Amino acid sequence: MSSRSSFVALGLAALVAAGPCDIYASGGTACIAAHSTTRALYNAFSGPLYQVKRGSDNTTTTISPRSAGGVANAAAQDNFCAGTTCLITIIYDQSGRGNHLTQAPPGGFRGPESNGYDNLAGAIGAPVTLNGQKAYGVFVSPGTGYRNNRVSGSAVRDQPEGMYAVFDGTHYNSACCFDYGNAETNNLDTGNGHMEAIYFGSNTIWGRGSGSGPWIMADLENGLFSGQDPKLNSANPTVSNRFLTTVVKGGANKWAIKGGNAAAGTLSTYYDGARPTVRGYNPMSKEGAIILGIGGDNSNGAQGTFYEGVMTYGYPTDAVENAVQANIVAARYATTSMVSGPAYNVGSSISLRATTSGYTDRYLAHTGATVNTQVVSSSSSTALKRQATWTVRAGLANRACYSFESNDRAGSFIRHSDFALSVAANDGSKLFGEDATFCPQAGLTGTGSSIRAWGYPTRWIRHYANVGYVASNGGVHTFDNAAGFDADVTWVVGSGLA
Ligand SMILES: *[C@@H]1O[C@H](CO)[C@@H](O)[C@H](O)[C@H]1NC(C)=O
Repeated sequence: MSSRSSFVALGLAALVAAGPCDIYASGGTACIAAHSTTRALYNAFSGPLYQVKRGSDNTTTTISPRSAGGVANAAAQDNFCAGTTCLITIIYDQSGRGNHLTQAPPGGFRGPESNGYDNLAGAIGAPVTLNGQKAYGVFVSPGTGYRNNRVSGSAVRDQPEGMYAVFDGTHYNSACCFDYGNAETNNLDTGNGHMEAIYFGSNTIWGRGSGSGPWIMADLENGLFSGQDPKLNSANPTVSNRFLTTVVKGGANKWAIKGGNAAAGTLSTYYDGARPTVRGYNPMSKEGAIILGIGGDNSNGAQGTFYEGVMTYGYPTDAVENAVQANIVAARYATTSMVSGPAYNVGSSISLRATTSGYTDRYLAHTGATVNTQVVSSSSSTALKRQATWTVRAGLANRACYSFESNDRAGSFIRHSDFALSVAANDGSKLFGEDATFCPQAGLTGTGSSIRAWGYPTRWIRHYANVGYVASNGGVHTFDNAAGFDADVTWVVGSGLA
């Protein structure tokens, strides 16, 4: 039986019941890599989806589907990571080829780790549900990246391939480059046509679509292409679905870009035609590594959220991609609570008292623009009490989390910049909102509240030498010191002091 007739024989109902990679295989374009922290991408897959490492003892565990073909066992992660921090260390390949994604090494651009590697993603930054069951995506902050330079079976040179990924269409920026796909094997820019990856974001240095972005484009190296014209394809629209299906495929002098709402409906084709006419893209010089969250040369300024994605060998048919989209929709991605622990009520006035032994008379406060901790008591001045009082607002960047407005400087909020906290006037920008949005969770020491930076889910509000930061549990900055971390990021939430 030809692969085409086996695909037709499966029928639509069977295809929805199958996993995305069963569908690609039925079309003769098998997955050579299948990555997801949320679910199995083969109907029969029950092996490890991803590995997490916790800060309390540096041990790891693997998270698998709850049942073959099912949703990730997020409860296993929650149990393992309770009362500590967790990073996603490995995103396993479900294809059986061993094409796992791990911490990206330094390349043309160095990562922020002391050894030049990129950061790993925090494990709890992107909670969702699939058919009502909780799972976690991969929340990529600037500086975060995963890679595999020794991939088995991927398309190289001008060979045909397909790929899709499901992203959060509301989480992006204009930096280079939030990618998933085929890239250089040496972490360097080796020239035009040496990549073929999905890009998502609002970068306009190379190409763009219509509107102000974000767009689904193809990173073909030395260019983000929205279509054949390297600068503009006005048929490639701005898309920002909360759950966004993105598709890129490429073969001999043909390629395509598609997109659609991952929670409903069908795919739309934004480009389908010949290769760009600029020198170097026909034929292509693909190298076959796989990247996530970065550009081929490790450019790591971008942000985005990845839930699932695959790479195929062979150029998938439109019918196969339509069946994959139906399967994604049937997985029923939905949002869920971003917060836990003590309740924060929007509009209420609060204080945050330190819990670190020897510092429990100190509150999160500000002196001028600097956020710090100050000793505040009933006999303190009203001015000081107001400096240590915050009004809870809906999160400026994500209303599932919160922002903290200064009591004595209306319109100014706690934000981070270079990971230091300050009180600054809201300038209405996307970046300000993101840097001023925080997601509280149950305190890491088992009491109170720990307050995560929405945009950097590896970082929590910490006092260090009585100054406020968003700090990670171990890292390159002095304020990331693992010693005393849990207590330094745990706060007692009380009433406003003024
Ligand atoms: C975990 O590993 C890091 C880096 O090797 C080290 O600095 C830290 O002390 C370790 N933490 C624990 C709790 O063992």
